[in-house]
Amino acid sequence: MHLTVVGTGYVGLVSGACFAEMGNQVTCVDVDQNKIAGLNQGILPIYEPGLEAIVQRNFKEERLTFTTSLADTMESSKLFFIAVGTPPGEDGSADLRYVLAVAREIGNLLTDYAIIVDKSTVPVGTADLVRDAIQEELDKRQVKINFDVVSNPEFLKEGAAIDDFMKPDRIVIGTESPRAQDLMRQLYAPFNRNHERTIFMRVRDAEMTKYAANSMLATKISFINEISNLCELMDVDVENVRRGIGSDGRIGFSFIYPGCGYGGSCFPKDVQALIRMAGDVDYVPEVLLSVEKRNQQQKRWFSRQLEKRFGTDLSGLTFGVWGLSFKPGTDDMREAPAKVLLADLLSAGAKALVYDPIAMDTAQQELPSEWFESGDVKLVSNQYEALQQVDGLLLVTEWKPFRNPDLAAMSRSMREKIIFDGRNQYEPDYIRNEGFEYYGVGRLV
Ligand SMILES: NC(=O)c1ccc[n+]([C@@H]2O[C@H](COP(=O)([O-])OP(=O)(O)OC[C@H]3O[C@@H](n4cnc5c(N)ncnc54)[C@H](O)[C@@H]3O)[C@@H](O)[C@H]2O)c1
Repeated sequence: MHLTVVGTGYVGLVSGACFAEMGNQVTCVDVDQNKIAGLNQGILPIYEPGLEAIVQRNFKEERLTFTTSLADTMESSKLFFIAVGTPPGEDGSADLRYVLAVAREIGNLLTDYAIIVDKSTVPVGTADLVRDAIQEELDKRQVKINFDVVSNPEFLKEGAAIDDFMKPDRIVIGTESPRAQDLMRQLYAPFNRNHERTIFMRVRDAEMTKYAANSMLATKISFINEISNLCELMDVDVENVRRGIGSDGRIGFSFIYPGCGYGGSCFPKDVQALIRMAGDVDYVPEVLLSVEKRNQQQKRWFSRQLEKRFGTDLSGLTFGVWGLSFKPGTDDMREAPAKVLLADLLSAGAKALVYDPIAMDTAQQELPSEWFESGDVKLVSNQYEALQQVDGLLLVTEWKPFRNPDLAAMSRSMREKIIFDGRNQYEPDYIRNEGFEYYGVGRLV
């Protein structure tokens, strides 16, 4: 099958590469010329385990091509996936500018029946807007061409994206067109070999399913964070509570790890967008509002601990920061708790030595350049260098090399042997027995 994926970011590149891996002929389109030029030389714009090999293999075997020109693919493709970003607008609603720009471009170029698939996360009703935008362009050209707009939200997780795409829990397809349903069924057949995973539904239902899924996961995180805050105040160890509730099959162990808040390009913006959608139908989403608020507050967990330990003025102090990406396995720093932490450290007068196994380049681009120029934030090349003469370690992202660190080397490097563990990676008693002062989220002091 020939298909086109517009938008070559995390979702577009992974989807395009995985569809090509199944034998399809895939063209990935992006407006970012540098990204496309890099991909044409085998250079990936993002870090995602396993992706490079699949991209390079399919590129070499000419099943996967990259271009900045959508026009190049119009003749051969029947399927157009829209996988561009839908960042939050100023009011929190999903900004559909990129999605609708692609829709208009498709309308402007369409020559034959095609299926346009919304893979980006888009609010309920967006497929109608995409349809209208395409139709408007066709009307301007005074041509009559049939097309269908389908919703096919993506559920991959950064850091495990290839596995998630190849072996999805479910494939949600929203369409009311039998023709589109047949083609989508055929496209996804190789991903359903083991058992049927596709759930067909109406377009609007599919659009809502994606927001409901992310909001549910965000709710679990904010819920356990709330419990952990109560534990800190009530002399209770949240780790025991976590194990105690997770063993209940109705609750489960996933997504109930307390921590310093969720980040990334999805949960924060999708919860906010669903809150906006609720507002549009005059409904007050009390649960979602609290989920969002709790998360904002949770990103300040480190600052609260530092204030309790050192007071509000941190001038003269330097902290080692382990982890910048919003979670392990990715270089993505969008909405990462580390950004809030660094801003808080600097505004309290402290300095930071920072290390992340993968996200150092992203940090150079995403953090304010004046932080580096002033010397207040210094990126270092290994985790122990980030501890040289520091007044404490702040563990933000639970990368594997941070799990069982060399405590003796840490002892030698750190001025003050204090660990603030924002992801509860360590057993407090063990760490304390090694002579460290230890603070974990919801753990006994
Ligand atoms: N990142 C994730 O883990 C994830 C998971 C599921 C769903 N999603 C959703 O998928 C969508 C894409 O997310 P992402 O993280 O891949 O975004 P991204 O920012 O990594 O990539 C988007 C790409 O679209 C390109 N683009 C913008 N306008 C374009 C245009 N007119 N024509 C061609 N290309 C254009 C950009 O240059 C960029 O490369 C979002 O709606 C997101 O919510 C993301």
